[in-house]
Order: sequence, then structure tokens, then C-alpha cells
Amino acid sequence: MTEAYKIIDHVYDTVVVGAGGSGLRATMGSAEAGLKTACITKVFPTRSHTVAAQGGIAASLGNNSPDHWSWHMYDTVKGSDWLGDQDAIEYMVREAPAAVYELEHAGVPFSRNDNGTIYQRPFGGHMQNMGEGPPVQRTCAAADRTGHAMLHALYQQSLKYDSDFFIEYFAIDLIMEDGACRGVIALCMEDGSIHRFRSHAVVLATGGSGRCYFSATSAHTCTGDGGAMVLRAGLPLQDMEFVQFHPTGIYGAGVLITEGARGEGGYLTNSEGERFMERYAPSAKDLASRDVVSRSMAAEIREGRGVGKENDHIYLHLDHIDEKVLAERLPGITETGKIFAGVDLTRQPLPVVPTVHYNMGGIPCNYHGQVVTIKDGNPDTVVPGLYAVGEAACVSVHGANRLGSNSLIDLVVFGRATGHHLRDTIKPGSPHKALPKDSADLALSRLDHFRNAKGGSPTAQIRMDMQKTMQKHAAVFRDTQLLQEGTALMQQVNKRMEDVHVTDRSLIWNTDLIETLELDNLLSQAVCTIESAHARKESRGAHMHEDYPERDDANFMKHTVSWFEGWGGKGGKVTLDYRPVHEYTLSDEVEYIKPKKRVY
Ligand code: FUM
Repeated sequence: MTEAYKIIDHVYDTVVVGAGGSGLRATMGSAEAGLKTACITKVFPTRSHTVAAQGGIAASLGNNSPDHWSWHMYDTVKGSDWLGDQDAIEYMVREAPAAVYELEHAGVPFSRNDNGTIYQRPFGGHMQNMGEGPPVQRTCAAADRTGHAMLHALYQQSLKYDSDFFIEYFAIDLIMEDGACRGVIALCMEDGSIHRFRSHAVVLATGGSGRCYFSATSAHTCTGDGGAMVLRAGLPLQDMEFVQFHPTGIYGAGVLITEGARGEGGYLTNSEGERFMERYAPSAKDLASRDVVSRSMAAEIREGRGVGKENDHIYLHLDHIDEKVLAERLPGITETGKIFAGVDLTRQPLPVVPTVHYNMGGIPCNYHGQVVTIKDGNPDTVVPGLYAVGEAACVSVHGANRLGSNSLIDLVVFGRATGHHLRDTIKPGSPHKALPKDSADLALSRLDHFRNAKGGSPTAQIRMDMQKTMQKHAAVFRDTQLLQEGTALMQQVNKRMEDVHVTDRSLIWNTDLIETLELDNLLSQAVCTIESAHARKESRGAHMHEDYPERDDANFMKHTVSWFEGWGGKGGKVTLDYRPVHEYTLSDEVEYIKPKKRVY
């Protein structure tokens, strides 16, 4: 290290990193339990990416059509292509209604039915009668701004319970000792000061790594910072090959048009004006699961039936829907269509294309939020002091493909479960051991290294190469050649970090430095994603491998676990292992749902 850094120390019971829906729910739960709680966030809480969640939150309230939690469970298991852990899925769907009512009481302004109950709309893959149909109205909506409304309510609740917020602080690395997490090191971006947070528990709620790709609905801040910290701590990530493409990102802009648009009656057409989803999913049609719809759109484009000058996108029609319904249920996307596509969707179709939207994979954890790793042959070894929630985590309730609106419910159910586990295991104000002498070394050496990086490759150039490589080699359709070339290319791109150039050394509002730290975080996860994909010789959910077009339960009904060596372009070696899918339920009120062919 070339410079001595002054460190400001803090002591907490719990530190939560990230202030999206899951981070705020965990912060609120921890503080409510009387634990001294800090929440560190690189953006203002209500600007976290949950703000972009539009269509709603799934729970079997049965307000607009008959429903039952066991139907929700069946759909989620089928949606996951049987890679989801059924104990965790049972937990989520059973807790879902209570979690939604809790949000309602916290102040989320849900849209209403005439009788005053919460309005629920149909979403892809959600059906009545254990998948038999018809579609169920299960997605509770606050117009098309559900995530935005949730963030405001949860932030207010977290403040009510007296948590401390460290806003515009960038978390750099975890403090680990003997395999346990003891805290985190962060940079205050406003004044350049370095902070060491010592805590009994660290909860990673840092979101996904969608920005590994060129075209994503994810905010520019979705750089998977928690996942990368976990890799640098010598712990693995899970199921990184499962990257969800949302069917309706605006062509050319990547901005999300909610699946709620199809829930309210919208439909897709190709260049021949054909409603092609009727061929691919005769029963659910435009409301099949996202992997199925995205694949069908990509197939239409590949076969020359895309729309537009370059035949490279698809049309989404909403122009037949009553303008009053659009104004009441979908006001946000009406505006988004105008701004980002120049389209008046009451009269014209919207140009859309499958766009990276969500990571099913992430930091492996159990349904209490505790991070797990494989150790001495035990695939469920708990890492003391470390938790993960939200898109950063892989519980795994989404398996190989997440159903729309199961993300918001995942955030609050597991954010709340984590709060409960913290409450039950930590005594407020209990004493802390002294930290090891090298507690800040990893974080400070990385900071110092990048501040002084004077190579020949600007951060933006390496990031573009990573994004273009991932977009070409690990997209909706994959094959052996694409993945083989892609893994080699991603190793080269990662290596280029040794030659990165950061414009100046300042620690204060140095966006180039922050973007370089974020790129370093993205790169390890991009490499894990493509190498995990290359090793999975089957097709399952969002992972469509054209040389292995069928699901192979005999050989691949298992979670991929990936470790990554090094940072800053050094190392780059990925080690893969597998852990079994939990083929059991939590209670005896529901039976394990046996795998079968997945048709919609
Ligand atoms: O389409 C949407 O409104 C997105 C929802 C989700 O990803 O759950």
C-alpha cells in the first residue's frame, strides 16, 4: 500500500448494505427488534433499483379470481423449471399474503377494486388450479409504479424504527475472519473518508449484476457489488448462468415496459402482423413465462419475421385497450412509450425486444437469509455473520427462471425473514471482539491500486468490451461454440483490468474511480456467468443451449456453484462445483412437486 489511510470506526449490531426493497425491509426488521442498525447505500434509498419495478407483487389474496398458496407454489416451481428449492418456495408463497398486507398497512397506495380490496392483475405463468388454468389475477399493483410506492413506504418505516442511514457510501469489501463476516469497509463519496463498520451481522442487499450486459432494464448502478465482495472473500456464487431476458424492453433504449401491459390485454405481433405466441404457447399465449416469450420473440426475429427497418424487434400492441384503463392502470408506461420510443401507445404499437432484466443466480443462502457455502462436503454450511437478500441472493426460489412479480414478493418475504433471524440470534448491544489487524487491507489495497491505475485502457472501454461480449455470447440462445469463444474472450477482457486507466486519484466524487470499482465487481460475475453457462450441457429455464435442447434432470438437476480467484485483472480462474436442489417441502401440508415437461 502506498498511502496511509485514516479510518473512521463505527460499531453496530447489524449493517445492511443496499437500500432497495429487501435492504430496507431487513433494516426495518433489525431496527424494530431493537438492534442498533446501519444501512449503507451508494444511492439515495428511494433511487434504488426497486424503484423501477412496475407491474406488481405476487400473493394469493384471491381478490380478483380464486387463488390458493399451493397454486402459487406450483406455478413458481414450474416457472423455475424445477431448479427452485421447494422448501424456500413454500416459505415464500405462504408468507406472501401477510407480507402484502403489511405493506398495505405501512402505507403502500395499492390500486383498488370497487369493493375496496387490493387490485390484482394477471402476470405470465401464474395460473389457477395447479397450472391447469385459466390465468389467475395474483399480482397486486399500485398502477404501474409498485416498486416506487414500496420504496417510499419502507424507507419511512426504517426511519421510524431509528436506523442510521449512510447515504452515498460505496461499500468496498467485507471484513472476514476465520470464515466469519465481521463487518464492512466503505468509502463516503461526498468527502472521501474511509469507514470501517464492525457488526455482528452484515446483510448484503446489493441487487443484481445486470450491467454485465449491453442492453439491460437494470439501472447503471446494478453492478452486483455484494456478489463480487463475496467472491473476493473466497465464497461462491450460485446459478449465475440463469439470466432473465424480459420480453418487453423498449427497442434501442432498454427501458422496461411492464408485463402488466400484457396482463391488461396487450399482445405481441411479428412483421406479418401475426400473434405468434399462439403457436409457441397455445394455452397461456402472451402470458407464458418470460423465458418462453423471450425465446419465441428471438426465434421470430432470427427467422426473419422481426419488425422495423432491420427486422430486429417485435411490436407490442396496447392500442386496442380502453384509454381509461391505460390511464388508470398503466400511466407510467404510457409516458415511457412517448419519451423513449416516441410512440403514442393509444394509437401505435411499441417496438420491443428481449432485454436483460434479472439474475436468478446470486449469493447462495437459506430461507432465513443466512449465506451458505460448500464446506467439507456439506452444501449447506452457514457462513457466520453473513446474510443476503433480494436479487443479490439466490435462496433459491426462482431456479432457472423467475415469474414476473415474484421478485417484489421475494424482497419483502426474505427481507422480513432475515430481520426475524437477526432478532432471534443477536442480543442488542452485545460486545464485539477486537478486529484482526488486517481488517481493512483488502479494501484499502484495492482502493489504492485503482486510484493509481495509469494503464492504457479507459474503464468505459473495458466495460463496453465486457458488455458486448456477454450480449453476443451469453444471450437468449447459446451454443457450445458461442460459449467456448465467449469464455476465452471474457478471460481476455478481465485481464485488461491490469491495464485500466483511472483519470485522477481523488477520493471525493471521483465517478471514474467508483465506476472502476464497479467494473471490477461486474467482471468477476460476468466470468462466473459465462463459465457456469458453458458447463451446463442442457437447456433449462432461461439457459437455452442449442446443442443440448432438452432439460437433463439426470445430470443437471443441481445448482451450479462458482468461485472466482483474484481481482483487478489478476487471477481470473473459476472453480465450479454443484449442490443438490432441495427436493423436499417445508411442511407436510404440501407434497414435493415432481418434475414434468414444462408447457404453457
Ligand atoms: O414487468 C414487470 O413489471 C416487472 C416485474 C418483475 O420483474 O417482477
